[in-house]
Amino acid sequence: MAKQAFFNSLKDEVARIDAAGVSKRFERLISDFTTDHNPKAIIDGRAISLFNSNDYLGLRHHPTLKQAEHEAGACLGTGPGAVRFISGSFAIHRELERKLATFHGREDGMVFSSAFATNLAVIFSLIKGQSKDSLISSDTLVISDELNHRSIIDGVRLGNLESEAKLIFKHLQASSLEEMLVANKGKFKRVVVITDGVFSMLGEYQDLAAIRQVIDAHDGDYAEGILLIVDDCHGVAACGATGRGTEEITNARADILIGTLGKGFGADGGYVVADQVTIDYLRESAATYIYSNSISPGTAAAAAAALDVIESSEGKQLLSNLQDNVALLKSELSKNGFAFAAPSEHPIQAVLIGDTVKTKELAKNMFERGFLITNINYPVVPKGRDEIRVQLCATHTREDVLAFVQALTAAAKELQIV
Ligand SMILES: Cc1ncc(COP(=O)(O)O)c(C=O)c1O
Repeated sequence: MAKQAFFNSLKDEVARIDAAGVSKRFERLISDFTTDHNPKAIIDGRAISLFNSNDYLGLRHHPTLKQAEHEAGACLGTGPGAVRFISGSFAIHRELERKLATFHGREDGMVFSSAFATNLAVIFSLIKGQSKDSLISSDTLVISDELNHRSIIDGVRLGNLESEAKLIFKHLQASSLEEMLVANKGKFKRVVVITDGVFSMLGEYQDLAAIRQVIDAHDGDYAEGILLIVDDCHGVAACGATGRGTEEITNARADILIGTLGKGFGADGGYVVADQVTIDYLRESAATYIYSNSISPGTAAAAAAALDVIESSEGKQLLSNLQDNVALLKSELSKNGFAFAAPSEHPIQAVLIGDTVKTKELAKNMFERGFLITNINYPVVPKGRDEIRVQLCATHTREDVLAFVQALTAAAKELQIV
């Protein structure tokens, strides 16, 4: 059969990826968790401490979230049953959307099956060449940070814009964005600027105040102004004294804020919050919201419960513990001769190793010692900048962090890294 030739091509491509050492499909399987204060993952029968989870506040094991999920599932069922506009909208979905909007000080919000799906649909809906019936003209310039997440890149790709209508500004450089806004004055009706809040490879954050200043200075240069979209999946429920992420740290606001419920919130799904008119428009146009199931009612209830925990004194304490853990890890690693790939105040700390083979060996060695960490290798990072991405959790105790540093130092010494 001729199609066998296509399957052979697929096989060759998988072999190419494997030979390059960048396969992702051999991940370790977690079969259970221990019942510790900071639960360890059971992998191949062993209890392993996770230092690579996005569950920054430890909420996925929180009894309040588990109970909320259990109770909602028990009466509403395990799945949504249909897409939102058919019969898949539950009161808990709307409650969660209202809570998210209130949390972020916005008029309304929408929940999606994931933040990836949120980015695809929100970005596409706002930049696409409109259909013949639409009252919105095309003529949009998109400008993105060069290290934006894959879901943003794909959202822009879906828009199918001409190359001069999709530009990339230098990572974290508001001045680079400004040069592009100046150079394109009058050439487009509107501009959409898109950036990650916290960048997940290095834990750095975009200075939204600097970006906002540039945008406000040039808004009048375009007939329909400049819109700022921020994806703060790693910022919200991870940093800022009250967990409001990059907006809180930089004291600046996005026009449209996108987040995930699957990291710091300890649940699953994605969301967007904005003013009412934007949300009304997105409910009519976002394809992954209209034509794809939302999260299950149990997951929505868990996410709503997570917001209550974060807003409580317990939540503030968790955020503060997390910051203490970040400070402790940084000072202990520095004392032991480690360097960082970038300055970060975030629970993501990128420990610079440099050599690809040694970085991989270090991650393996740490697994043998009972710790799971992630090695990030070339070509994901530039050659010679291979790193171990350490992610901290609010429920790691001081002893957990010190034990981790001790193990990493011993493993790095064995491999002649420090
Ligand atoms: C910046 C950013 N945006 C979006 C996503 C996607 O989040 P989700 O898992 O909810 O689709 C991620 C997750 O890796 C992310 O880091």
